[in-house]
Amino acid sequence: MNVGKLQDRVAVVTGAAGGLGAEAARVFAAHGAKIAVVDINNQAAEKVANDICAKGSEAIAVETDISQEASVKSMSEQVVARFGQIDILHNNAAILSNEQRQGDRDVINMDVEAWDRAMAVNLRGAMLCSKYCIPEMIKLKRGSVINVTSGLGAQGDLTLSAYAASKAALIMLARSIAAQYGKLGVRANALLIGLAPAENAHETMPAEMLQIILDNHLTPELGTPKQIADAVAFLASDESSFVTGSTLSVDGGFGSHTPSMVAMKSLFERMGSNKM
Ligand SMILES: NC(=O)c1ccc[n+]([C@@H]2O[C@H](COP(=O)([O-])OP(=O)(O)OC[C@H]3O[C@@H](n4cnc5c(N)ncnc54)[C@H](O)[C@@H]3O)[C@@H](O)[C@H]2O)c1
Repeated sequence: MNVGKLQDRVAVVTGAAGGLGAEAARVFAAHGAKIAVVDINNQAAEKVANDICAKGSEAIAVETDISQEASVKSMSEQVVARFGQIDILHNNAAILSNEQRQGDRDVINMDVEAWDRAMAVNLRGAMLCSKYCIPEMIKLKRGSVINVTSGLGAQGDLTLSAYAASKAALIMLARSIAAQYGKLGVRANALLIGLAPAENAHETMPAEMLQIILDNHLTPELGTPKQIADAVAFLASDESSFVTGSTLSVDGGFGSHTPSMVAMKSLFERMGSNKM
């Protein structure tokens, strides 16, 4: 019998009502996992869970505001009541609404409420989910926590300062978890994602902005949700059993080249040569 690499593992996927989280949930399920589709948007979460069940896997939607401790505690209790255990926590949720993006700018123009919301959802949310899911992993003597970070969490940029600071902290949170619970069988890693627009995300980003970002990826195209989900499934599974405390870049090389590369390429094209 062909057994999936996540066979009978129970995965909590936050922000799984759409986008990259929904795709990770679907890919985990295809590898045999049982899924808790955790999101503040329960209607969309229900749809993702139902679609997974319709394909013969097990999934439940758990309406959760990950920034609130009581809500996260209740979520972990509901998952254990239904599936009996928690093996995987994919800390994927982040607040990325238009309203949030309008307020989260350069530091002197920062809307303090947007700053606090970014920290509460992106960072406190991941800590709270870890706080309530890791004890279940310790009982099993195994577990994997995956924190989603971004190029903005590693390199300075012109706006989204709160998002960036929260994403940088998620790298450190993964290392703290790896150090604190590694001997108890729990691994934790960060996944640094390049641009992998989901569904209709292209419609909300101006074409010129998308082109600038694509020029700075080393791959012919931007990423896809499936490419990201495949890397998350690797970190969730025993295939990565010796990988912990690390930051895995799945970013099409966005963070690996010199800052001058794109401008230099255009100069070389105009010169007709790359002789320095
Ligand atoms: N898509 C990309 O190209 C890209 C690039 C780099 C990093 N990322 C990261 O990947 C992750 C997913 O991104 P996405 O593009 O799929 O975003 P998305 O906005 O499509 O999904 C985020 C999900 O989080 C949920 N959410 C928001 N606040 C919540 C709360 N308080 N409690 C529970 N759920 C909440 C939303 O309802 C939504 O379903 C994010 O952490 C993002 O920072 C994405």
